[in-house]
Amino acid sequence: MIKVEVDLGERTYPILIGSNLLGQASLIRPHIHGKRALIVTNEVVAPLYLEKLKSGLSDVQCDHIVLPDGEHTKTLATLSSIYDKLLADRHERSTTLIALGGGVIGDFTGFAAATYQRGVNFVQVPTTLLAQVDSSVGGKTGVNHPLGKNMIGAFYQPQCVLADTEVLGSLPDKELKAGIAEVIKYGLIDNPSFFAWLEDNIDGLVAGDMALLAEAVRVSCEEKARIVAADEKEGGVRALLNLGHTFGHAIETAMGYGTWLHGEAVAAGMVMAADLSCRLGWLSPAEAQRAKALLKRAGLPVSPPPAMTTDDFLRLMAFDKKVLGGKIRFILLRGLGQAVIESGIDAALLQQTLEAKEGLCQG
Ligand code: NAD
Ligand code: GLY
Repeated sequence: MIKVEVDLGERTYPILIGSNLLGQASLIRPHIHGKRALIVTNEVVAPLYLEKLKSGLSDVQCDHIVLPDGEHTKTLATLSSIYDKLLADRHERSTTLIALGGGVIGDFTGFAAATYQRGVNFVQVPTTLLAQVDSSVGGKTGVNHPLGKNMIGAFYQPQCVLADTEVLGSLPDKELKAGIAEVIKYGLIDNPSFFAWLEDNIDGLVAGDMALLAEAVRVSCEEKARIVAADEKEGGVRALLNLGHTFGHAIETAMGYGTWLHGEAVAAGMVMAADLSCRLGWLSPAEAQRAKALLKRAGLPVSPPPAMTTDDFLRLMAFDKKVLGGKIRFILLRGLGQAVIESGIDAALLQQTLEAKEGLCQG
């Protein structure tokens, strides 16, 4: 087992990464402070892993709630059903909420933990690649609003993250690939040698090679832990983790939540960011093509949905959480592994990117 720490002073917590850790659920026992817990999971994950998790926590009174599956459930109504369960079962402030599932479960369970009785203990047990490499770490929690992704939420850190890489074996291919998009993101942001490692190993990762996936989870968690420790509440450098997200969130919202997977939308968004960087003269066409080629080899979309117009993008990107003083701040690339935060981008160049479609990154 590998332990990566998210160093946040008194709120420092471990990410435990390894194979068959669900079978050693007692590893999270020290992070459950009271005698009770509520496991929040969904109808897909529960039959696979709920009993395994529960059996390792036999000295805790563990209730559970099994919710419907899907991005469209990331709503205030779902949050309400978690509060209903907690109150009906008389969970006190000393309870612990355990998120067992992908990023959707993790995000709304974290927000429920942040808000139930003004904040209770929270543990993340991520079961998708995307959740293991990104969403379970760093304390961004929340739900979607019809007008924008993740618009309602809170920063609220877990006490522990337990990432059992074995569970990735049951993930559908499409979901695995969506997680790989966020892995590639770390290479593009600030780790050129990891980007090169991904170019060498992408076929094995897509094929589900467990050793390669475990390595990708380790490096990604180390990257994310370092950035979150430096800037927990996104005053600066953490915004780099949003590479591809300004375009990507617009795609998810326009298409209807769940139509494009989050990782798929981020993949197309990163190609758009590479294209815009190229038009600004910051990235060479060859570098932009390398980024696009890696995402394509991972089986990810490398252009936005044909139905989306420039106006759709501009309207939806105006809701981005990075908008400051009415100006969109973009995460762009000044090299592969050299992401920067930029506002005041030339509107004509942005328009060219939004109109390029299949022609993105062609120099
Ligand atoms: P998801 O939670 O919808 O999970 C994807 C699918 O896989 C679901 O159908 C789920 O039930 C199923 N599943 C989960 N684990 C499984 C397993 N081991 N075997 C088989 N099926 C399994 O999607 P996701 O990609 O994990 O997360 C996407 C969400 O994460 C989005 O809402 C996104 O906004 C959010 N996110 C949050 C952060 C953050 O920092 N909080 C970062 C990135 C993404
Ligand atoms: N996924 C972006 C962040 O955690 O900041």
